[in-house]
Amino acid sequence: MVAITKNKMEKLREDFPILSRKIHDKQLIYLDNSATTQKPIQVIDTIIDYYSNYNSNVHRGLHKLSEEATLKFEEAHKKVAKFINADFKEVIFTKGTTESLNLLAYSLSNQLKKGDEIVLTQMEHHSNLVPWQQIAKKLGLKLKFIKIKNDGTLDLENNPINKKTKIVSITHISNFLGTINPVKEIGKIAHENNALFIVDAAQSVPHLPIDVKDIDCDFLVFSAHKMLGPTGIGILYGKKDLLNEMQPFNYGGDMILEVKFEDAKFNELPWKFEAGTPNIAGAIGFGATIDYLNKVEMNNIREHGKELTKYAIKKLSEVKNLEVYGPLDPEKRGSLISFNLINIHPHDIVSLLDDHGIAVRGGHHCAMPTMKLMGLTGSVRASFYLYNTKEEIDYFVETLEKVKGVFK
Ligand code: ALA
Repeated sequence: MVAITKNKMEKLREDFPILSRKIHDKQLIYLDNSATTQKPIQVIDTIIDYYSNYNSNVHRGLHKLSEEATLKFEEAHKKVAKFINADFKEVIFTKGTTESLNLLAYSLSNQLKKGDEIVLTQMEHHSNLVPWQQIAKKLGLKLKFIKIKNDGTLDLENNPINKKTKIVSITHISNFLGTINPVKEIGKIAHENNALFIVDAAQSVPHLPIDVKDIDCDFLVFSAHKMLGPTGIGILYGKKDLLNEMQPFNYGGDMILEVKFEDAKFNELPWKFEAGTPNIAGAIGFGATIDYLNKVEMNNIREHGKELTKYAIKKLSEVKNLEVYGPLDPEKRGSLISFNLINIHPHDIVSLLDDHGIAVRGGHHCAMPTMKLMGLTGSVRASFYLYNTKEEIDYFVETLEKVKGVFK
């Protein structure tokens, strides 16, 4: 690991044109990275280059432009696969985490029958809950949940996984509590019970080095836009044998080998799951994103995120009437902090912070049942990435104190 000094990390900021923007005449402080991250010029330029110089459809054409686009598109596939230590055939481009999870729920439903159980946790994003609810209703399946303990971690001692469990699908890092869940341990319990193990890694792949073979998950899903990449493109990783057995999600062009009027033979992996013209610009942009992250190194990103989170928790704990949710130990959480100021609505805080150029998210964070369980209707969430600094956190906490003053 190359030790990245504070100066080096700060130098990276120059790669992000948007960070020099002013909001309401104030310098932008972007702390909404769990929702989406900003894009470096290297990724923006790669997308401009594609549209300016070799825009063409992939796979179909034999002409020069199509060859160039196809090469870059497949290179991106390979880069993403290597990034998570998967094989090329195991990495499918989707629209994002949500589509990947819908694809899994839909395709795996063929293997499920009435009475089968699906285990989730009480801290799932709606995208890892609603698709399972729908197939559970349709097929008469039972949804069960691993509970959250008071410290914001999962109660694994009392987990509901058993021989009736067919699928265990859990978030790696909660987008609301920030909790890092012990995926290897949960995967082991799932496999001991012959259940498939799915990891929603939308909040973890951007922040931690991820090795799908080490986790030993059957499927893992994430989105490019939360890791400096374009919107509208994400990944479904799946073990080759399992993907081969599964029914495609979308049917049409590109996902076939041979079509007759009566029937069709499906294409090989990964194209079997990539029907229609894909998000070519997004995929090529994602390839450039992976190059960028590799250059910074994921270990450095994790260390930087941990340091900022530790610093922010310490500063926020000095603010009176403020409660932080989730584990306080930075080793056990990702680079995001959800909190409330007692008796002040999160939307008011978000809007007043915005007046000072600070972007954070407020609301239910697509985790309504978790909020309700904790007796909340919403929270404010500050989330950090590689370009954020301690100085920004100082300004954010000082501004929070000012915002509090408005309500006195
Ligand atoms: N899932 C994203 C978030 O947590 C949008 O903000």
